[in-house]
Amino acid sequence: MLDIDQVIAEIDGAGTLEALEALRIQYLGKQGSISGLLKTLGGMSPEQRQIEGPKIQTLREGATTALAARKDALETAALDARLAAETIDLSLPAPASPRGSVHPISQVMDELAEVFADLGFAVATGPEIEDDWHNFTALNMPESHPARAMHDTFYFPDRNDAGREMLLRTHTSPVQIRSMIETAKANPGGAPLRIVAPGRVYRSDSDATHTPMFHQIEGLVIDKGIHLGHLKWTLEAFLKAFFERDDIVLRLRPSYFPFTEPSIEVDVGYSSTGGRRVVGGSGDAPGHAWMEVLGSGMVNRHVVTAGGFDPDEWQGFAFGIGVDRLAMLKYGMDDLRAFFDGDVRWLSHYGFSALDVPTLSGGVGTPV
Ligand code: PHE
Repeated sequence: MLDIDQVIAEIDGAGTLEALEALRIQYLGKQGSISGLLKTLGGMSPEQRQIEGPKIQTLREGATTALAARKDALETAALDARLAAETIDLSLPAPASPRGSVHPISQVMDELAEVFADLGFAVATGPEIEDDWHNFTALNMPESHPARAMHDTFYFPDRNDAGREMLLRTHTSPVQIRSMIETAKANPGGAPLRIVAPGRVYRSDSDATHTPMFHQIEGLVIDKGIHLGHLKWTLEAFLKAFFERDDIVLRLRPSYFPFTEPSIEVDVGYSSTGGRRVVGGSGDAPGHAWMEVLGSGMVNRHVVTAGGFDPDEWQGFAFGIGVDRLAMLKYGMDDLRAFFDGDVRWLSHYGFSALDVPTLSGGVGTPV
């Protein structure tokens, strides 16, 4: 007969879960010794069974309880050991992961939208693949108009379903037409409209100051009693906010665009220090010069009509600004082509932190 104390002592002494399992098989497995004892009960006389039965049961229960308790203890110890071994040292400096940056054009687009939002303009968009009606005809440039030749345009071989020629838009001005039509449709009596439309535009041009794709932001105001004074004030307020300087001086020059009448080109005074252009002061002051920054004018009445408004009731002004040039001027970059080279060294020098995008209302920060 097995000695229960000895069996329990043996179980309590098992050092590993494997050793414990071996003991379980040894005592309680199919061929185990305690299982063997249980089987002998069948061959006993009732009297003998009365005596031996309880002893064998005690043995079996004692072994079962001891096995469970030891298993629990061994598992807890294993977990404690793992927890002790697998601690992480949080004080170790983490390896730096490479950081991306916001492209100066995206940054400047955001800044422009923010300045104009403060002035009450909403942001509108239009397609980069345009038809010639929105890009030219509706903007007072009929098919025979010589102004169409001013832009060397990328045309598509096929016309659209309406039979219109398709092209890569040469300016953001078609968004003027789309916004007016949309507004006129939504409000049949006409309605005031104040939008800016930032986006990509395309012309067949490539040198140090021209790329085949570049960026513009269009502005359009349609309302009652709008005159040149509103345009001048808006442009002045915008340029002061964008360049964060109060000494911005504008020069308005008469010009020609088919879609505005009168048309005005706007120059801004700047000085050059150490090869870097700094905006501010009159271009006529010593050491200063003028730089053209945008085209603008009062919306031509043919364009107001094409947009679905009555030109005797509604007037407005429009402007188109080269975003790339503004970015170069504000952040001191000298080659336009670098904008689109995708050179990581250039981007990490001129890019902006995505986590700390400077906004005008928060104060423009320093490039990362
Ligand atoms: N669309 C003109 C250009 O690309 C700019 C412009 C816009 C001029 C709106 C007047 C009014 O040159």
